Amino acid sequence: MAIRKRHLLIGIAALPVAAVVFAWLGIFNVAATGGHWQITNWFLHFAMRSSVRTYALGVKVPPRDISLLQPAAGHFAQGCAFCHGAPGVPPSPAALAMLPTPPNLSGVIGEWTDAQLFRIVRHGVRYTGMPAWPAPERTDEVWAMVAFLRELPSLDARKYHELAEGSAKAATAQETGFDAALAGCARCHGSDGIGRGEGVPILAGQSSVYLRASLEAYAKRKRPSGMMEVAVEQAGGGTFEALAKHYAAQPRPSRAPLAADPALVGRGKEIAERGVPGDGVPACLGCHGGTRKNPAYPNLAGQKRSYLENQLRLFVGGKRGGTAYAHIMAKAVKNLSETDIKSVAGYLASME
Ligand code: HEC
Ligand code: HEC
Ligand code: HEC
Repeated sequence: MAIRKRHLLIGIAALPVAAVVFAWLGIFNVAATGGHWQITNWFLHFAMRSSVRTYALGVKVPPRDISLLQPAAGHFAQGCAFCHGAPGVPPSPAALAMLPTPPNLSGVIGEWTDAQLFRIVRHGVRYTGMPAWPAPERTDEVWAMVAFLRELPSLDARKYHELAEGSAKAATAQETGFDAALAGCARCHGSDGIGRGEGVPILAGQSSVYLRASLEAYAKRKRPSGMMEVAVEQAGGGTFEALAKHYAAQPRPSRAPLAADPALVGRGKEIAERGVPGDGVPACLGCHGGTRKNPAYPNLAGQKRSYLENQLRLFVGGKRGGTAYAHIMAKAVKNLSETDIKSVAGYLASME
């Protein structure tokens, strides 16, 4: 008995030595060209599926919101398609050489639930090159990407192009600097700055000081947004001034007053003009009104309602960030209730 125990201990102690000898002999092939052994491949994918399945159990699925569906498609075109390909778009040669090879997503989306896709897109997959969402706190953006992935299998090349690029003209190889950058922005904002979809803000006629400062904030990760972080990185800081001036100079679209619930809009007007004194919320128009004291304060008249609501929720939840003045705004609305968010966003959106 004693002897057997001793043998066992020697055996265990020798294991690391054996592993080192095995590695030193160089039999295990670490070259990326050789491919994983079938069994390694199977094991990695099995481990990934199990992990995703387990961690997705704690994910609460919100009601589907499509206000960010179009920019999610635009983001897919700039941040995912070079690895995964897309309808009518082959993956890049570099991606085909990766191990494991990034799958064609149209064929595999059906195997996952929404909660599982959320988990994969938010956190990425370790050891595979599949990156995490650049701003993981922006769960609204991750859900928008999940909504887009659900649509992906039903899209042909034409429909995909329309959703991801719209009428934006892709930058040609000769175009550099401003023109190439604007072509990238136009995918989601249009070159007229009106923006595609209810979740994309109107940039047309916005203060150029605010636009410029916001681009810097995204670039420095002071304002979390995976979609905008990737976009500003591709454009490069040298283009920010010209892009801000371009969008500020576009005509602000005239908005027809929204046919919103009149009681809601009435309450919204009261908040905008007088604030909610009991909750310590100051009058919004004191800073955002027609004679804005500071060009760094954004013009909100006629901005899209669902964008305004979303930004207010981010401020209240402590996830918005922004320019050097963002803390003033966060403090102003920290006690704004969900009903008041809806009311005041509805009113601001209907303002000329
Ligand atoms: C650098 C390359 C790369 C980029 C960029 C990339 N992925 Fe992936 N992705 C991968 C690889 C590799 C896998 C396979 C992981 C595995 O099977 O273990 C993967 C797996 C996935 C899966 C799971 C599919 C399955 O069944 O294995 C989804 C969903 C996914 N990616 C979505 C995205 C989205 C959305 C984006 C853009 C936000 C993106 N990926 C960007 C490389 C990439
Ligand atoms: C993939 C879609 C997409 C692309 C490409 C894109 N944007 Fe955006 N942009 C968005 C979304 C979505 C938001 C709202 C982000 C948030 O929640 O902070 C936004 C926000 C902004 C804001 C903040 C506006 C405000 O009122 O606070 C500015 C400025 C901006 N974008 C400029 C640009 C410029 C310039 C480019 C090109 C370099 C660009 N965007 C490219 C989708 C995009
Ligand atoms: C003390 C001045 C001040 C007051 C009062 C104020 N804000 Fe702001 N607000 C700002 C500043 C400054 C920003 C720009 C934040 C940044 O991105 O750096 C801002 C940004 C915003 C944005 C984001 C706009 C965009 O394009 O992303 C919304 C929405 C907003 N405010 C709504 C409101 C509402 C609603 C109220 C009233 C309940 C209000 N604000 C009161 C100063 C103020």
